[in-house]
Amino acid sequence: MKKRIAIFISGRGSNMKAIVEQCQTGILKDLAEVVLVFANKQSAGGLEYANELGLATASIESKGLKRTTFDQKVLTLLSDYNLDYIVLAGYMRVLSSEFVAAYPKQIINIHPADTTQHQGLNGYDWAFEEGLETTKVTVHYVDEGLDTGTIIAQHSVDLKGAVTLEEVERRGLAVEHYFYSKTLQGIFE
Ligand code: GAR
Repeated sequence: MKKRIAIFISGRGSNMKAIVEQCQTGILKDLAEVVLVFANKQSAGGLEYANELGLATASIESKGLKRTTFDQKVLTLLSDYNLDYIVLAGYMRVLSSEFVAAYPKQIINIHPADTTQHQGLNGYDWAFEEGLETTKVTVHYVDEGLDTGTIIAQHSVDLKGAVTLEEVERRGLAVEHYFYSKTLQGIFE
């Protein structure tokens, strides 16, 4: 049975696109289907792409809502989808403990840094400002902390000769787009 997954985004959704492609024609084809793309912002660019592909989409505006109130609304929405996994892809929110408890070991995130070294936003800005020659991207289970969940896998990103933030991001995202699906493949198999 294919795993039923929801992908959560907050913005442009380039990781979401990469995963959708792998589910449709690539390494996740026999393993998973994307049954929902969810955003916490109606303006998230990735929603349009998901709609164009005919995927089910939903959004609930998180702005102004208490974390637990918002997460409860999302849980209610998800209850219709019978999900096996929730895949966070640029979803810029910490989840409440109630939300995490509803999907134990079923929520996965990608983080653009080594989570033991840098948590929160702007992982590539951090690597660039630190002048790192190598950084890492991390795929991890999600708990209620900020990028504190158990690490599933990490992949290094070679930053030698990358002299602009744009180049650092370009190299990092190229790794993320391949590595996230590859790691999900290992989990779903
Ligand atoms: C990605 O680099 C992802 O790793 C990062 O946000 C970007 C989203 O890009 N996530 C975090 O920083 C989470 N702490 P995308 O919307 O194009 O996938």
